[in-house]
Parts: sequence; structure tokens; C-alpha cells
Amino acid sequence: MRQKLAAGNWKMNGTKASLAELDALAKAHPDPSVDILICPPATLIDRAAQGVQGTGVGIGAQDCHAETSGAHTGDLSATMLADAGATHVILGHSERREDHAEHNKDIRAKARSAMDAGLVTIICVGESLEQREAANTLDIIGGQLSGSIPDQSTGENLVVAYEPIWAIGTGKVPTLDEIGEVHDFIRSRLEHRFGEGVGRSVRLLYGGSVKPGNAAEIFAVSNVDGALVGGASLKAADFSGIIDALEAV
Ligand code: 13P
Repeated sequence: MRQKLAAGNWKMNGTKASLAELDALAKAHPDPSVDILICPPATLIDRAAQGVQGTGVGIGAQDCHAETSGAHTGDLSATMLADAGATHVILGHSERREDHAEHNKDIRAKARSAMDAGLVTIICVGESLEQREAANTLDIIGGQLSGSIPDQSTGENLVVAYEPIWAIGTGKVPTLDEIGEVHDFIRSRLEHRFGEGVGRSVRLLYGGSVKPGNAAEIFAVSNVDGALVGGASLKAADFSGIIDALEAV
């Protein structure tokens, strides 16, 4: 049985005042039956990690550098993020692939470094609307999986998030069949590459306009082990509804 995971990605949102949302979230779920993770901006990781100590909420980062240390102004290494209290890191989000020209090989190098530092790595894959309309979705996802996921991956250190780019922040969601098709495909690719044991133990998240109102039906799709949530993770009340739906699966 894969442990379900509700992960929130705050992106470039949040100041110290936002930590109250974390307190509220921890209080609303004192004994969660699913893993709960919030990835705030890096400026808040240390404080957030201290604040959630002893609760069912974990703290993650949104990116890391591939090196452990060195002359890389403005960057943060996986070791530093772990030192600040992060247990997870999101890598290869489409916003980073686009804004920072990150390619699969960059993401693989970052993932290696993150896994070496003991972080659980949430690797994001997903197609653009153009690619979906050209019926290239599975080819694109297949290439992203083989290019970005390092060989050392296991069910403990790897989570894969399927985030169709056109569903992020748009209110548009693929049909449940479309989500199921991609998640089944990702599962079969992981089993093929890493063997059935490891391939079956990696958790697969869906991300893109997940809200309290659509979470239950998405979580009922095969091979959906949770969600990576943007906008609806910023407020504890919204994210709580999504966690409730995941706990009810
Ligand atoms: P939204 O939930 O705001 O669509 O964002 C999804 C996302 O990009 C999470 O990483």
C-alpha cells in the first residue's frame, strides 16, 4: 500500500504572516492518515519546519541546485534545504522548466543531489496544450520520465507528479480518463525501468487546478496517490478540504 500524499506548493507566495495557515492546518489535522506536505518559499522553510515540529505536517522546498556548495550566487543546495528542515523538494516544475530553461538532464542532476542529501524528490512531468492536441502527451511524459529520474530512485526517495501545464492555475482539469491514462502509463514506465517492486511503490500525484470540490473524483482514479496543489494550498481551509477527500479514499 502506498501512503497517500497531499502536497501544497506555495510557489512565490507567502511571508511570515502566512505561517498562521500552517498552524491552522496542523490543528485541523492533528492525527492525519495521509502524509501532508507544504512547500513554502525558501525564506520560510526554517521557521515553518520549526513551527510544524511534532505535527503531521511536513515541509519541503520548491527547487535546489545540483551542487552541494560553491560559487553559485543566489542558489540553494539540497544540503542547505535539508539543514533548514526540509524533508522533500519539488524538482522540474513546469514553471522552472519554462522560467529557468531547466531541461530533463538538469532536473536529473538536481534529483541526484537531493536524494544524496536525503530529501524525498517530487519530480514533475506534464505536457503543454499544444502537445496534448497533437496527441503527443505520452511521448512527452515518457521522455521526461526517462530523462529526469535518476537511477538511484526508490519508492522512498521518489514521488512523481503529473501536472499538465494547461491545467495549472487555469481551473481546467483533464477528464478522469485522461488522468488515469497518464498515471497508468507512468506506473508502467516505472515498473519497466525499476522493476515491479520499486515501480509499484513510487507515489504518483496529480497536479493542476485541484480544489476541494473536484479532489474526491480525482483521488478515485487508479494510480492517483495524492495531489500537488498550488492555489488551493495557500489557505488552510481550502487545503483541508483536499486532505479530507484524500483521507476518505
Ligand atoms: P494550481 O493548483 O494552482 O493549479 O497549481 C498546480 C501546481 O502547479 C502545483 O505545483
